[in-house]
Amino acid sequence: MVILLNFFVIGAGNCTNVIAKDLFSKVSNVYIFDSSKEKVEELKKVYSNVIYSDFSDIDKLNIDYVIECASVDAVIRYSEKILDLNTNYVIISSGAFGDDLFRERFMEKLNVSNCNVFIPSGAVGGIDLIHSLGDSVEKIVLNTRKSPKSFGIDTFEEKIIFEGGCKEAIKRFPQNINVAITLALAVKDFEKVHVIITADPYVKSNSHNITIESKIGRYSLNLENYPSDNAKTSLLAPLSIIGLINKLNNNFKVGV
Ligand SMILES: NC(=O)c1ccc[n+]([C@@H]2O[C@H](COP(=O)([O-])OP(=O)(O)OC[C@H]3O[C@@H](n4cnc5c(N)ncnc54)[C@H](O)[C@@H]3O)[C@@H](O)[C@H]2O)c1
Repeated sequence: MVILLNFFVIGAGNCTNVIAKDLFSKVSNVYIFDSSKEKVEELKKVYSNVIYSDFSDIDKLNIDYVIECASVDAVIRYSEKILDLNTNYVIISSGAFGDDLFRERFMEKLNVSNCNVFIPSGAVGGIDLIHSLGDSVEKIVLNTRKSPKSFGIDTFEEKIIFEGGCKEAIKRFPQNINVAITLALAVKDFEKVHVIITADPYVKSNSHNITIESKIGRYSLNLENYPSDNAKTSLLAPLSIIGLINKLNNNFKVGV
C-alpha cells in the first residue's frame, strides 16, 4: 500500500467524506480544518489518523498535500498562505479563479512559489480534450441542468435561470458552477465559455452538456451525474480528487 505522508484538508463535508473512504487509509496523518469543528469530530470517530487543526497552524506542520474541499470563499481566504508552503495544492472549488483580482494575485504568488497546484476535472470530463485542442478552441457552451433544490429555489416548471459568461455564472452560483471556471482555466480564456443553467423540477440527475467548437472539430459531451447526499455536489467531484491523487502517485499515467 502506498503511504502518502501527510494531508491537510480544508472542509469536512460531502467531498471530504467521499475521499476519506478511499484515501485516508493510505495517509500517515490527515489534518482537517473546518469552520464547523463538529464535522471533523465525526470523521475522527471513523478514521484514527484524523486530527483537527486550525488553519493558522498549517505552517507548523509537515504537509505533502493540501486538499481544498470547502468553498470558493475558502480558496480566496487561505490560498496565499498555502502557496508559501511549497507543497502540492489540490483545489476543487475552482470557481475562485473567476474572480479576476484573486486570480491575478494567486498567479503572481505561484510564480515565486514551489507549490504544485492541481485543479481536478471535478463534476465533468473532457479537460484532456480541451488541452489537446489548445488555441484551436473557439467556443465552449456549458449547459447545466439541476433540480431547483440545488439552487435553493422553488419552481414547478423547467426554467432557464442563467445565461451568460462563466465569471458572472460563478458569481451568481458559487456552489453550483465551478465546472464553468474549470473549463475556462483549461481553455485559458474566460470569454470563450458560455453558460446556460436550467432549473428542472423533473430531473433525477445533475447533468452537464458541453459543446466544444474548434478549428479541428466539434465535440459534444453529455454528462449525467446521479445525485449524491449533497444536492449541490455530484459524487464525481470527490472521485476526481481520488483519481488525481492516485494518478500522481503511480508511475504509469494514462490520458494525462
Ligand atoms: N469543481 C467541481 O466540479 C466541483 C463539483 C462539486 C463541488 N465542488 C465544490 O467543492 C466544494 C466542497 O463541496 P462539498 O459538497 O464537500 O460541500 P459541503 O458543503 O458538503 O462541505 C464543505 C465544508 O467546508 C466548510 N467550509 C466552507 N467554507 C469554509 C471556510 N471558509 N473555512 C472553513 N471551512 C469552510 C463547511 O463548513 C463544510 O463543512 C464546494 O465549494 C463545491 O462547490 C466543485
